[in-house]
Amino acid sequence: MTFFDLTKKRSSIRSFKEREVSEGEVEKLLKAANSAPSAGNLQSYEIVAIRNKELKDELVGASHGQKFLGQAPIVFAFLQDEERSSKKYGDRGKLYSTQDGTIAATYLQLAAEDMGLGSCWVGSFEENEVAELLETDKRPLVLLPVGYPARKPNKDSGRRELDDLVRFID
Ligand SMILES: Cc1cc2nc3c(=O)[nH]c(=O)nc-3n(C[C@H](O)[C@H](O)[C@H](O)COP(=O)(O)O)c2cc1C
Repeated sequence: MTFFDLTKKRSSIRSFKEREVSEGEVEKLLKAANSAPSAGNLQSYEIVAIRNKELKDELVGASHGQKFLGQAPIVFAFLQDEERSSKKYGDRGKLYSTQDGTIAATYLQLAAEDMGLGSCWVGSFEENEVAELLETDKRPLVLLPVGYPARKPNKDSGRRELDDLVRFID
C-alpha cells in the first residue's frame, strides 16, 4: 500500500475481533513508534503497552465508558516525559514532549493500518485516573487501542475543504 492509499483508507476503529495481536506484530508497531522524529532526538515520552484485561476495563471507567478500550487486545498509552525535554529546552520542553509523544502515537497508528489492524485515538479520559492506573507521575497524552477490526465504519468522516484550512503566503 502506498502512503497515500494508507492515509485515505485509515479510519477510526471502535470495534475489535477477539483475535490476538502477536508478539511480532506488537514489536513491529513499537518499532514504528520508535522511528518517529522528536525534538533533539530525545524521544521525550514513554509507552505503556497494556494487555491486562482488568486494567483495560479500568481504563474504560477512566475514559467515560469507552468500551472498545476493554475489547481491544492491546492498548498503548503514550505518556509525556516533560522533564526529559525541559532539561535541554526549558519551557519549550513542555510543547516538545507533547509533540514527541503524539507524533510517535501517530506513527504507531499508521503502522497498525498498514498491518491490517485498526485503532482509534482516545483523548477523552480523566488524566489523573489514567495516570494512577498506570502507576506513573507522567501525563497521559493518548490511549491507542489496537486490534483486528470487527467491522469497518461505512461512513466517511469527511474533512474540511483545503481552502478553509490553508492560507498560502507567496
Ligand atoms: C486528539 C484526539 C482525541 C480523540 N479522542 C477520541 C475519543 O476519546 N474517543 C473516540 O472515540 N475518538 C476520539 N478521537 C477520534 C476522532 O473522533 C476521529 O479521528 C475523527 O472523528 C475523524 O475520524 P477518522 O479517524 O475515522 O478519520 C480523537 C481524535 C483525536 C485526534
